[in-house]
This record gives sequence, structure tokens and C-alpha cells, in this order.
Amino acid sequence: MTHDSHQNRKNDHLRIALEDAGVQRPGQGNGLERYRFEHLALPELDLDRVDTACVLLGKRLRAPLLVGAMTGGTSEAGRVNRVLAEAAERCQVGFCLGSQRPMLEARGDVASTFQLRDIAPDTLILGNIGGIQLRNELDGRSLEQLAQAVGADGMMVHLNPLQEAVQPEGDRDWIGVIDAVGEAAARCYVPVLVKEVGAGLGPHTLRQLAATGIAGVETAGVGGTSWARIEALRHETRTPRAIAAHVLADFGTPTAESVVLAARAFPGRIVIASGGLRDGLEVAKCLALGATACAMAWPFLVAAQGGVEAVVTEIEGVIETLRIAMFLAGAPDLARLATVPLRQDAPRVIWHRSAEEDPA
Ligand SMILES: Cc1cc2nc3c(=O)[nH]c(=O)nc-3n(C[C@H](O)[C@H](O)[C@H](O)COP(=O)(O)O)c2cc1C
Repeated sequence: MTHDSHQNRKNDHLRIALEDAGVQRPGQGNGLERYRFEHLALPELDLDRVDTACVLLGKRLRAPLLVGAMTGGTSEAGRVNRVLAEAAERCQVGFCLGSQRPMLEARGDVASTFQLRDIAPDTLILGNIGGIQLRNELDGRSLEQLAQAVGADGMMVHLNPLQEAVQPEGDRDWIGVIDAVGEAAARCYVPVLVKEVGAGLGPHTLRQLAATGIAGVETAGVGGTSWARIEALRHETRTPRAIAAHVLADFGTPTAESVVLAARAFPGRIVIASGGLRDGLEVAKCLALGATACAMAWPFLVAAQGGVEAVVTEIEGVIETLRIAMFLAGAPDLARLATVPLRQDAPRVIWHRSAEEDPA
């Protein structure tokens, strides 16, 4: 793919994601709507002492929250990255770069659109590259160099076979990606995590990934931004692939299910919940379902159109909602939140992370 067509595609993605047009939650939702906390009218806690802080990959965060991977590589993308990274630094939450693939193509000054340490010196920053690029062009050592080039604390490898399958210019051969992930995780000195981009990680994939030395996963489950739908809208005419993209808009594992499965498959490792998380209550639910942290992409992209202050307000809103939800659920800190049972509306059972049956 040429540098220019990659830039056009990145700009298309930003534009279509912002226009929405059914790109958000095109199907059943993310599955979290079925879960609820028991409300404690006698919480016996001081709200001001509820502690949302955590340490992730060696960095202290005010809350287990990251701005999800989105962009880089064009001047517009660079502008969005700077707004998001500055807000992340101010709020002390994590920040994920979008795919660094343009840096591999090394034409023009694309690296600067990913270099944000001048405005985000203390932020947890995760780099990003596709599983296909990892297999075709990189090894553990060069993955590490990609992290070092942007001062990242870890690297995310994204898996997007559905998106690639319905893209006019997509990669269709996915053989050997799991071996590339395993080798990179074994050789790379910075932590390697693996994520989907909105179709989720199901049980079989999680088992394959758990057998490697990766530091963790990000679910990016069904129920939020649909990449099949974004690609469908990039097709200008009704082609067979455009039809497939519409049909498969919500194909995959919903976020709630992916989080539960990932927490089981990765005990002691990092599980970042994502895929359609839109507020602090959904974040709280994911943490109670076993996630270590949560990422939100699209809501912060929308906020970024209003500048740094607008993103800061959204992030603070998520943290404040999380704090109040913890208070009302009787959890003074994140360790306790992870043990709080969630009620599942239908069928009427109580899900509990350790017991998996009604603890009462
Ligand atoms: C405009 C846009 C660009 C994205 N680009 C990337 C990317 O380059 N690499 C990646 O791993 N995920 C990418 N994603 C996927 C997000 O990181 C996330 O997994 C997905 O959008 C689901 O989260 P959401 O529902 O909160 O948006 C992108 C998402 C959006 C909205």
C-alpha cells in the first residue's frame, strides 16, 4: 500500500467514525446492560476516601482508564493525538497510540505525529502495530525499537481479521500471526499486549494467546465502534465485500462476555476491557467482572473535536461516575470492587467472579 493511500484511509476512518452513521452499536449492545450492582443505601463509606487509583505497567494512574488506540500518521491524526495525550497527562490516565504502521513505511515526517512525550512525560503510553505487520515486517527486537521511538511503556498488537477481510485493500492471509505474537512476546523487552479492534476476543483466541508470554489483552468487544460498518461506508458502490461488511457489522464476541472469558484465561495478567464502554458505570461493571483496567476510544475522539478541556471533562466524568458507583456498591478501592457481585437481569442469576453462583 502506498503512503498516500494509507493516509487517505486513516483520514476516512476518522471522518466516518465521527459522522457515526450507525457505526456505533449497530447490533445488540455490549452485553453490560444485563448486569447491575446491588445499590447500598447504607454504604458505610466516606465518598471522599473512595480510592480509584492503581498502578498499571509500572505507572501510577488516578483510575484504571486509558484513552483507546486510534490514530497517528497524518497531520490531522497528529493534532488529535496531541489533544488526547495532553488530556491523559492532566487526568493521569493511560493513552494508546493508533497503529504505527506509517512509521514502518518511513516516508515523510510521520514519526512526529506519534511522539508525545514532550506533552505527556509521565503518562502511561502504549504503542500499536497490526498482527499482520508484526508477522511480515517485525521481530521482537524491532517491535522494541518501535516502542522506543515513541517512548512507549508497552506495545499493543492489534488483530483485525474482520476489518481486513471487508476492506478493499485488506490483508487476507492470516496464517502465522499467532507464532509471530509468541516470538515477539518472548524476545521483546517491553511488555506486549494483544487487542482486537471491536469484534472481541473469544474463548479459542484467548486460549491461543494465553499460551504465549504476552503481558495481557484488551478485549475490544462487540458493542461499540464497528469496523465492519466503517469499512462498509468506505465502499462507494454496492460490491460483494460492501454487502459482507454490512451483514457482519456486529459479528464477534460482545464486550461483557469477552471480559469474563479474558479474566478467566489471564489470571494474574492484564485484562483491559473495551468495546463500546461509554461511561464510568460501564467501567465499574467491567472492573467487577474481572478487568484490570478499561479503555474508551470513540467517546474521547468525539470530545477531542472540542479541544483538551472537553476531553478532560469527559475523562473526569468517567472517573467521578466510577468513584460514585464504587461508593454505592460498597467498594472503598479497586481490590474490593473486583469482589463485588453483579446481578444479571436475565436469566435471573447472580454472577460472582470467585464462586460463579449466588454467594448469598
Ligand atoms: C477512529 C478510530 C481509529 C482506530 N484505530 C485503531 C488503531 O490504529 N489500532 C487499534 O488497535 N485500534 C484502533 N481503533 C480501535 C479502538 O482502539 C477500539 O478497540 C475500538 O474502537 C472499540 O472501542 P470504542 O467502542 O470505545 O471505540 C480505532 C478506533 C477508532 C474509533
